Amino acid sequence: MSGTIQKTILSEQDISGIVKRLGEQIASDYRDKEILVVGLLIGGVVFMADLIRELSKRGIHCELDFIQISSYEDLAESNGDVRLKKPESGSLADRHVLLVDEIVDTGHSLEFVQNYIQSKQPASFKTCVLLNKPSRRKIDIHPDYVGTDIEDRFVVGYGLDYKGKYRELPYIAWIDI
Ligand code: IMP
Ligand code: MG
Repeated sequence: MSGTIQKTILSEQDISGIVKRLGEQIASDYRDKEILVVGLLIGGVVFMADLIRELSKRGIHCELDFIQISSYEDLAESNGDVRLKKPESGSLADRHVLLVDEIVDTGHSLEFVQNYIQSKQPASFKTCVLLNKPSRRKIDIHPDYVGTDIEDRFVVGYGLDYKGKYRELPYIAWIDI
């Protein structure tokens, strides 16, 4: 049946281990720098909330901002026609910007956001995603920090939705769509 949870692929504990590892990696790369963490709404917020606290535990300070791009809520796949829905609130110029999103699939969204942020002339720019579906890539794009690769199946939970639902799940699971 469409919308039925099939199987947990990453438990709360698995996710927490991955986020800790990313926190360590990022903290060691950004020592002595203040990061402007830019979350991609809506899906990136759960991951972002956990990641910034892992950074804080390692002495890294950050400020937060958010960007939202058009999501094709009723499509399971972005079609490459990406638009900006909500720009950042503050300036990105001369900041160490770290973009945080939950998943990179075809790469269209990340490519769009990457070009958009670069055009604002940050001091530095890196990307961090929790999940990566390399087999689905249409754009040759490589996030700087990747939590884990997953296979080509639709997943929900921990920020990821199916038609607006399941974002609140503390784990990540396969779903029938
Ligand atoms: P891309 O532009 O194809 O890389 O798609 C990125 C966006 O598609 C993500 O930010 C998600 O919103 C959505 N997406 C891609 N795969 C999944 C999935 O398995 N579950 C939930 N959302 C997904
Ligand atoms: Mg998203």
